[in-house]
Amino acid sequence: MCGIVGYVGRKEATPILVEGLRKLEYRGYDSAGVAVLEEDTIQIVKAVGKLSFLENKLQKEKPTGNIGIGHTRWATHGKPSAENSHPHADCSGDFAVVHNGIIENYLELKEWLMEQGHVFSSETDTEVVAHLIEHYYEGDLEEAVRKTLQRIEGSYALGILCKKEPGKLIGVRKDSPLVVGIGEGENFIASDIPAILSHTRKCYLIDDGEICILTPDTIKITTISGEIVNKEIFNVSWDAEAAEKGGFEHFMLKEIYEQPAAFRKTLSGRTAGNKVQFPDFHLPMETVSQWKKIYIVGCGTAYHAGLVGKTVFEQLLRIPVEVDIASEFRYREPLVDEETLVIVISQSGETADTLAALREAKHKGAAVLAITNVVGSSISREADFVVYIWAGPEIAVASTKAYTTMLVAEYLLALYLGQLKGLVSDTLAGEIINALHSLPEATDRILKETAKYKEVAEYFKDKHDVFFIGRGFDWAVALEGSLKLKEISYIHAEAYAAGELKHGTLALITQETPVIALCVQQKTYDKTLSNIKEVKARDAQVLAIAVEGDTEVGKYVDDVITIPEINNFVAPVLTVIPLQLIAYYAAVARGCNVDQPRNLAKSVTVE
Ligand code: F6R
Repeated sequence: MCGIVGYVGRKEATPILVEGLRKLEYRGYDSAGVAVLEEDTIQIVKAVGKLSFLENKLQKEKPTGNIGIGHTRWATHGKPSAENSHPHADCSGDFAVVHNGIIENYLELKEWLMEQGHVFSSETDTEVVAHLIEHYYEGDLEEAVRKTLQRIEGSYALGILCKKEPGKLIGVRKDSPLVVGIGEGENFIASDIPAILSHTRKCYLIDDGEICILTPDTIKITTISGEIVNKEIFNVSWDAEAAEKGGFEHFMLKEIYEQPAAFRKTLSGRTAGNKVQFPDFHLPMETVSQWKKIYIVGCGTAYHAGLVGKTVFEQLLRIPVEVDIASEFRYREPLVDEETLVIVISQSGETADTLAALREAKHKGAAVLAITNVVGSSISREADFVVYIWAGPEIAVASTKAYTTMLVAEYLLALYLGQLKGLVSDTLAGEIINALHSLPEATDRILKETAKYKEVAEYFKDKHDVFFIGRGFDWAVALEGSLKLKEISYIHAEAYAAGELKHGTLALITQETPVIALCVQQKTYDKTLSNIKEVKARDAQVLAIAVEGDTEVGKYVDDVITIPEINNFVAPVLTVIPLQLIAYYAAVARGCNVDQPRNLAKSVTVE
């Protein structure tokens, strides 16, 4: 977690760093800080809490200088406090460091450094890096950094300044993302592209084990052992506008409303008549036919997308599909081999657990296909095949458009593999493809019903517990709906397979526990109605999500929200949208910070 940014050039560094941090705040917002080299002193200013607290502080004590580093923190080692905020300095104040990741062996290093006389001022793992550089510095910062890297274990993207070598900024990467922005007379480092996009569209995507040495006019990239690395320039094709709120009150709402456009992009160029094509990669038939099993792995919302994917792939490919939470997968000793396709799903492409699962799968000989949003992310670079969801930048911590486009990508991929293996008829493929192409318009219709979602949210906003129930696809979507509600509104919510309720959870149902019942899937419709009757008999208030034209469910529930009629197989993409909106408006009604819910961060780059 955490976001880092660095600038070296001829302009004032502080405003550029703060602007960069604003774009990285989604990565953590427990504290923020900058270090700027002002004449011959490294000035460090930091503040606990959101970036705006740092900005207030900088009004009074703004360091001036043309080189600096900045950090926005999501606390791991040490509570959010002024001492634990980055940047961290060594004893002499000659070096300053910002860090995203975890130094796993920091305790033993800290003990050793203290024996050498170093004095620590924070509880963080990061501070050892500053002291190690101080320890190894003999007039050559690059060399001191190299020696430091040989001592530290774990994951890190680092930004490093040295007072004795003004005009030189160092960035390092291992298992945490880092890009270098290429400017004219100025250069940048950052955890993510939006942080530098208003300055340049040209970047280097830094790989693990690389060190970048930046001055205003030069960029040198080397391996840890010092060999020069020649990298290709990566040109960013999306613009800074796409990462701004564009008139919406919150990024989350903007991103919910971007779904129709996102679906068009996900589908663009990937269907031709009844056929699905993936110009992005070539999958030889021999490779595909060797896969006897699929594993889908992801975290949070991406995992929920995998749960929908399970049924999609099983139905179309008729092979077993397992879905696993990435943080569980690698420790399970999963039964994965050359005959397994492992599909990793990750919006950011940087989630540490998912990346570790990908590596574990590759290590076991499996082919790995990534479904991701971020071009150049670690996961996209390490996977054998990549399907981009093309959702555009997702800034709100609560994922919305990434989830629905992940589903669209899964339908496309399952159809593609099914067609390659001759398992999916043209008629069936045509029906699913048509339904996918009808999603943008159907979503637009859902998005017009704002008043209804606000009214429903007003009812839910004072509740302590909400239950979501559904069967099959509806259950998978219920899990995502409950996650949306709890993570942004802090209302306790749980999702249950409707048939499972009576095996325990029904005991919790009273008139104080409203139930959102998903009744979209027709195959299990009658069964879900029976489950609705069970909770009604315990006095629960029930809101049903059903398909337009349903004249039945309204007889048994207190309120109904409908989605447009669509092929039932593709319906999960629409079913979730009212749930996203209810969660959004409930959180707004409760006065919650929708885009930055407490304790969370957008990109979880620690395990
Ligand atoms: C919830 C949410 C998270 C992410 C999870 C994985 O709204 O966004 O649960 O889905 O942290 O993130 P990615 O997809 O970037 O791997």
